[in-house]
Amino acid sequence: MSGNSVVIVGTQWGDEGKGKIVDLLTKDVSAVVRFQGGHNAGHTLVIDGQKTILHLVPSGILHSNVRCYIGNGVVVSLSALIEEINMLEESGVQVCDSLRISPACPLILPSHIALDKAREVAMGKQAIGTTGRGIGPAYEDKVARRSLKVGDLYRFDTLEEKLKIVLEYHNFLLEHYYHEAPVSLEDTLQECRLAESRVLPMISDVGAELLVLRQQKKKILFEGAQGTLLDVDHGTYPYVTSSTTTAGAAATGAGVGPGDLDRFMGITKAYTTRVGSGPFPTELNDEIGRHMAVTGKEFGATTGRARRCGWLDSVALKRAVQLNSLTSLCVTKLDVLDGLETVKICTGYSLDGDLIVEDMDPNGGLADAIEGCRPQYTELPGWRDTHGITEYNSLPENAKNYLKQIEILAGIPIEVISTGPGREQTIILKNPLG
Ligand code: GDP
Ligand code: IMO
Ligand code: MG
Repeated sequence: MSGNSVVIVGTQWGDEGKGKIVDLLTKDVSAVVRFQGGHNAGHTLVIDGQKTILHLVPSGILHSNVRCYIGNGVVVSLSALIEEINMLEESGVQVCDSLRISPACPLILPSHIALDKAREVAMGKQAIGTTGRGIGPAYEDKVARRSLKVGDLYRFDTLEEKLKIVLEYHNFLLEHYYHEAPVSLEDTLQECRLAESRVLPMISDVGAELLVLRQQKKKILFEGAQGTLLDVDHGTYPYVTSSTTTAGAAATGAGVGPGDLDRFMGITKAYTTRVGSGPFPTELNDEIGRHMAVTGKEFGATTGRARRCGWLDSVALKRAVQLNSLTSLCVTKLDVLDGLETVKICTGYSLDGDLIVEDMDPNGGLADAIEGCRPQYTELPGWRDTHGITEYNSLPENAKNYLKQIEILAGIPIEVISTGPGREQTIILKNPLG
């Protein structure tokens, strides 16, 4: 079964290749929607050898005649948004005609960024390893009902008053709790003033526009940021991001109903990576881990930090299938495992020699299960070369066997396989959009 709307989410700790796949599938849709996260995301598209890294703007933007939406669930830094629009327009991409932003998006203020950084410093060894983009403090303010929103740009007189109150609070924390420099009201207002004329024409009721597209039977892609294991509720808390990264957020964060989401595709790397701190049961600190890091060019698209690497974890993957109602998988970066003698998949965790989790324990959260556990592996023969292959039948038998194992363990079909960073370096077995 295919659907008019497909939600794309990461099944791991982010950087699974969501951007590449969203860009690829955009050729068949009318709209692409971001619904959570902010410019902590770094989504890489490679078209005809040219690389574009997007942080806030949906990964459909390189296609003309496709509407790109930033839904209410996204936290928006006006300076980051303007910088990204400028970068795109300088390379000839028309953004202002295609991009629409919900007035309900909470703003990330410079003081949120200062607070994020100050906290990480204060936490020392316990630091989360955030991207330093102010994501956590901005979501805190949303829930605390003191956010300024994109829609406040319409009312500059009251905006200044609201900013003054919020900044008083932020600066109290910065100066007296973290002993850091305060952020100036004038600088913050200036950022809003500079953005005003650019952003106002793009503000729109995103949920209402999506409803019209649904009524017209148009196809829509919902683009997740981060990944399932970074979800604030279901991830490896506290080493998570501050938003709901799982598929349910596509409805709340775009302003549509859950019934408007038809299909759910999970993106998984053929192995696993993680940036920042926190548990990672299948992490490899050896030659193979280095092979993955070097061959996979595993450096963060947002902060440039080295990503930690390890084997694919099917226990976590299965949990992601359940948490996101995944209907299919896309396996990316298969080519990065080329040339390895054997490849491993984690199929369970053991503690003190006893196998404690085989599938996923329905009574225990993943974070509890993996604390202090050792992964159990199944080992499969490796293969030589999959790089750039576009036909399933051209894949080496052992690579096909590896993919088969993933399907069996996950319990859902693989519809797309990625064999290189380029848009065309892809095998589409079945288009989830039909
Ligand atoms: P996202 O955050 O999920 O969109 O992923 P990122 O863009 O942060 O990281 C994925 C990285 O892998 C990017 O540099 C992509 O260009 C690259 N990439 C995506 N798919 C493939 C693939 O199949 N093979 C290889 N070698 N690289 C890929
Ligand atoms: P994309 O969309 C990988 C990680 C950070 C840190 C934790 C919290 O490109 O997959 P935050 O700044 O969100 O408060 O940081 O989450 N993180 C990501 N890791 N890919 C991302 O996004 C990430 N966004 C946040 O490294 O560990
Ligand atoms: Mg990324």
